[in-house]
This record gives sequence, C-alpha cells and structure tokens, in this order.
Amino acid sequence: MIIRKSGPADVASLYKLEQELFSIENFPLSKSSFTYHLRNNLLYIAEVDGNIAGYVLVLIKRVNAKLYSIGVDEAYRGKKIAQMLLEKISKELISLEFKRLVLEVRVDNEAAISLYKKLGFSVIKRLKSFYRDGCDAYFMEYEYAGKAL
Ligand SMILES: CC(C)(COP(=O)(O)OP(=O)(O)OC[C@H]1O[C@@H](n2cnc3c(N)ncnc32)[C@H](O)[C@@H]1OP(=O)(O)O)[C@@H](O)C(=O)NCCC(=O)NCCS
Repeated sequence: MIIRKSGPADVASLYKLEQELFSIENFPLSKSSFTYHLRNNLLYIAEVDGNIAGYVLVLIKRVNAKLYSIGVDEAYRGKKIAQMLLEKISKELISLEFKRLVLEVRVDNEAAISLYKKLGFSVIKRLKSFYRDGCDAYFMEYEYAGKAL
C-alpha cells in the first residue's frame, strides 16, 4: 500500500468511492469539489494494487486545519488505512506549522469517533442538529504541540 497526494487522474475513482461512502445528507463531494480540493487543500489517497482504498481531505485555512472527510472502501476496512492516512496528514501539517487539527463528526458514527479518540482527538463541544437529517455533531480537536499523531 502506498499513501500519496492525489492528482487529477484520481478524481473519477475518488468520486465513485465517495458515492459509496456517503449518502446525500452527509454532503458527498462532487467531481468538481475533488478537483478544487486537490489543488487548494491536502487530499491524500491510500492506493492498494492500483485501487483507491481510501482518502483523507484536510482543509487548510490561515490558522486552523480542518479534517473535512476521511473514508475507506469497505473491502479495505480494519487494516489501519484510516490511521495511516491521518498519521501521514499529521506529518504534513506539522511541516506546514499548523498547531491544531479540528473536525466535526456525527455523534452516531462510532467507528470514526473511536478512530479519532484512539489517535488523541478530544471532544470540545456538541453541535446541535449540525447535519441535514438533524443529527448532532461532536466538534473535536487535536493539538500538535510539536508531536505527530
Ligand atoms: C471510519 C473509517 C474511515 C475507519 O477506517 P479504517 O481504515 O477501517 O480504520 P482503521 O483500520 O485505521 O482503524 C483505526 C482505529 O479506528 C477505530 N475503528 C475503526 N473502525 C472501527 C469500527 N468499525 N468500530 C469501532 N472502532 C473502529 C479503532 O479504534 C481502530 O483501531 P484498532 O483497530 O486498533 O481497534 C471507515 O469505517 C469509513 O470509511 N467509514 C465511512 C466513512 C466515514 O464515516 N468517515 C468518517 C466521517 S467523514
């Protein structure tokens, strides 16, 4: 498996994976969004035997970096691919001198919450009815303070 920055040739496969990962109320990314983000933000993919097994997208703003989305193809889950994607992005963020990584996650997304907690993220607050279907979100953060995930 390799983890690498995504390029324009990955957009069609990323879009296909996105459709499988997220329903409409979870704001799936369009092809043009992927194209925009790979130019303007941090978009890394995990590639296994030429297939995109997962991706992570971090939005980089002036002070904060926000984990916008992470997803792993069902066939490749439970192999630490999400963990490796987050570790890779974390190194990149430290080299860019970001001090914290924040995110929102559905309170019913146990797998993602466990992943973030395992890697050291803390819940800062609960955001009421954050998602289209009325589900609340946890706002979580990880402070680097000189250390990678
Ligand atoms: C959440 C998701 C990215 C995890 O991907 P993954 O590659 O299977 O996760 P990893 O193998 O790296 O797991 C690392 C840790 O995360 C946690 N975790 C992952 N999947 C879990 C599950 N189904 N239940 C509980 N904890 C889970 C565990 O702590 C795990 O560590 P462990 O294996 O030592 O117990 C994947 O389930 C997914 O793509 N879900 C759909 C999309 C999504 O909800 N994305 C997050 C919101 S944007």
